[in-house]
Amino acid sequence: MDRSLASVAGLALRTTRIVSGLFLLFFVTSHLLNLSLGVISIEAMDAARPYLSTIWSRQPLASLLLLSLLVHFLLGLWAIYRRPTLRTNAQDVVQLLSGVAVIPLLAVHAVGVATLKIDGIPFGYAQAIKFFWLGAPQIGLLQVIMLSVVWVHGCAGLFTWLRAKEGMRNALAWIYPLAVAVPVIALMGYAEAGRGVLIAAQAPPVETPQYAAPAEKPAEAPSTPAKERIPYEVVKQITNQVIWWSLGLAALTFMARAIRLALQTSQKVILTRGSAPPLHTTSGLSLLDSFRAHQHPHASLCEGRGRCGTCAVRITLSEFPLPAPTALEAKTLLRIGADDTVRLACQLVPSGGAVTVEPLHPADYSFKDDDFAEELAAVDASEVRT
Ligand code: FES
Repeated sequence: MDRSLASVAGLALRTTRIVSGLFLLFFVTSHLLNLSLGVISIEAMDAARPYLSTIWSRQPLASLLLLSLLVHFLLGLWAIYRRPTLRTNAQDVVQLLSGVAVIPLLAVHAVGVATLKIDGIPFGYAQAIKFFWLGAPQIGLLQVIMLSVVWVHGCAGLFTWLRAKEGMRNALAWIYPLAVAVPVIALMGYAEAGRGVLIAAQAPPVETPQYAAPAEKPAEAPSTPAKERIPYEVVKQITNQVIWWSLGLAALTFMARAIRLALQTSQKVILTRGSAPPLHTTSGLSLLDSFRAHQHPHASLCEGRGRCGTCAVRITLSEFPLPAPTALEAKTLLRIGADDTVRLACQLVPSGGAVTVEPLHPADYSFKDDDFAEELAAVDASEVRT
């Protein structure tokens, strides 16, 4: 594929991944807000349910949701396959593992809700809380774990995305507390609603007074044929298939990635950064991945996604010609006002030989009040790439 076409495709895939992820995060947030109302009452939860929960099972939102989930999952696997290294920081590892776990954890909830809808069984929070706290507490616990994992995955992705954007520092200061407060209040709502159900279950039954008139026999329902419901075994089978297919796809992705790296023919690269001793690495890795592989910290606010520009380095020597920047790299370099001796360490994969670079930012750099472009322009541009 033509290089610029591949870059544009890469940019489109990344944008799709962000948009689908934001859509899913919106879905989880509205569910958590609905659960939070449990601190008031189950009636309050049910009153808000049509606007915060069941709205997602109506068309076209239901189809969009399913599509976003599938697309986001598959693009996540594609990103894992393409990653040169999995050596990264703790937040990135949490994001990666929670991403793989989302579909298996979501399967029970999604298949259950779809079955109830197809069977036409009305199921509000009054029934759900009773079911999760009295009928099947293990499924209730699974729901809590599922929401927590999806939330952690979504927040990790959101932070990585926003951290890479200049001017988002103030917004993040508001979002961090919300990321903790929203699930905590939702869990409080779930626990409070459950407590009410448990207390009601332990209360003695109300005695019918002796003199009370016998209850009227309910009128016979018109004899319409009962709708056949989906058997439990079928529901269980579908759920298991979703779980095993998603886990199987994830396992295949890791295997394919290992094979790709094993088959990759690479040249030796001697990478020197500043006054540090040279690193012996290969042309299969980006500069950032080489630094990480050797435990050399390097600024990378967007975790190597080519968006923040904080990993920028000035190339002072390259034994062989360097590949041209991709559309994504060129866009970020243009945004930060870089000249043509500057490249992004997360995007540049050298062809081989000796490469010497000067980092433009310290490893613990973060966007502050300073202007990145001005700072970059101030750097001495006298050194040139060979
Ligand atoms: S790490 Fe953000 S652009 Fe390289």
